[in-house]
Amino acid sequence: MKIELLNKNITDIKTDVLVEFLTADELLQHVEVRILNKAGFKAEQDTTCFLHEKGMLFCGIESKKSDDLRSASSCMIKALKESNYESVKINVFSKKTLSALVDGIVLGGYEYTEYKSKPKEITLKEISLACDSPDFAKFEMIFNEALTIANATCFTRDIVNTIPQDLHPQTLAALAQKLAKDNQLGCEILQETDLEKENMHAMLAVGRASIHGSALIHLTYKPANSKKIVSLVGKGLTYDSGGLSLKPAASMVTMKMDKAGACAVLGMIKAASELKLDVEIHAFIGAVENMIGANAYKPDDVLVSRNKTTIEVRNTDAEGRLVLADVLSYAQDKVKADYIFDFATLTGACMVALGQYTTGIMGHSHTLKHDISKAGSNSGELTGSLPFNKHLKKLLKSEIADISNVSSKPYGGAITAGLFLDKFINDDMKNKWLHFDIAGSAYTETPWDCNVYGATGAGVRLMSEYLKNI
Ligand code: BES
Ligand code: ZN
Ligand code: ZN
Repeated sequence: MKIELLNKNITDIKTDVLVEFLTADELLQHVEVRILNKAGFKAEQDTTCFLHEKGMLFCGIESKKSDDLRSASSCMIKALKESNYESVKINVFSKKTLSALVDGIVLGGYEYTEYKSKPKEITLKEISLACDSPDFAKFEMIFNEALTIANATCFTRDIVNTIPQDLHPQTLAALAQKLAKDNQLGCEILQETDLEKENMHAMLAVGRASIHGSALIHLTYKPANSKKIVSLVGKGLTYDSGGLSLKPAASMVTMKMDKAGACAVLGMIKAASELKLDVEIHAFIGAVENMIGANAYKPDDVLVSRNKTTIEVRNTDAEGRLVLADVLSYAQDKVKADYIFDFATLTGACMVALGQYTTGIMGHSHTLKHDISKAGSNSGELTGSLPFNKHLKKLLKSEIADISNVSSKPYGGAITAGLFLDKFINDDMKNKWLHFDIAGSAYTETPWDCNVYGATGAGVRLMSEYLKNI
């Protein structure tokens, strides 16, 4: 499917279909109002109606705002993919909403067909966006940026959607190496022998029962005149069975997505390098598989982490924080960054707190949280701030080690997980660090907004927007 922005009046473009977005008020004024009424079209948000004889597709919107347009254009592209049309034209009505239109088309039109033996054929080949504004150059810049970020989001989705048999720590490392080669990034892979030398015993314990060796992946994007340095850390659990604290059967399904933090971080560095942003970026990924076996780590074990903090394991399913503890420690020692952000499908509790659609944000700096949530709303990602407090922090106390890997009480699980990570953030980085819990937002089994079944690519649009304006 090709999508292009043309500096033409829409009437000068020849396609099979013309798309119009209409509010209920606009529908009343429309020349086709009678026939659309007969077809039962009321211009409600996310409804569509073809007038085949006229070669037109109408899409209902509540308002002309980005959020409504993103969702409506996702419905539009799905309707077109079901049809047998080959080409379509759409008028671009503002700079402000152009990114949302691109997101809706690219992300809403995304499908993962890798494991289908006969994927259904899509006849739609060409999407032309018409823009005859004198300010075309600016529109074109916005269009190209949005397309780069949407494609990076699809790149992230593809990796998350890949099954654990095909995507394990070693294949994830190989994939990162390929990305580094394609995008001229620095790449260093630490294998288990290297991780031992680094004393990363928390991370190593989690991966011990897997047949696939754990790996730490470090990618670097270093532009000539960088203004800031940002470290991005990703949880890369290529499968989370829960370990000996085994997950119930129903909860284990979808746990291939426990690598979504890592995949998001890969998408972010891909987008940043393709946008040629003036920011030095380091991506650190802990790639591990959490399995069971005779040599599995156990509830009751005490692990000595890289920064020497001892951790009592009370639940092997709270494994992501153990991996991140060591990777965060390594990242802070390796790179003196202006900001460090970690992305992780860390807790089911985050979904209980914020719902499935919202990324949980935790950290000490209110300014940073504010700036990030603004980047979220500007790029169409939902965020919610979850506040730390000293009472929840006490719940991580261990009688036998420095900290327990789970809270002693059942409430506030997303925050206690964030507070666990805080233990591994150096004092000078406290106000430069944020933790993103994407447990709910990274994956969906029911479509919403521009997200289709499977991985959403959560984090990529948000962080790209933030990095663009840093
Ligand atoms: N990967 C899971 C969190 C998760 C759950 C992500 C559902 C996406 C959907 C994580 O490793 C985990 O199992 N967390 C436990 C923590 C608990 C044992 C303290 C959880 O959330 O139940
Ligand atoms: Zn787990
Ligand atoms: Zn996990």
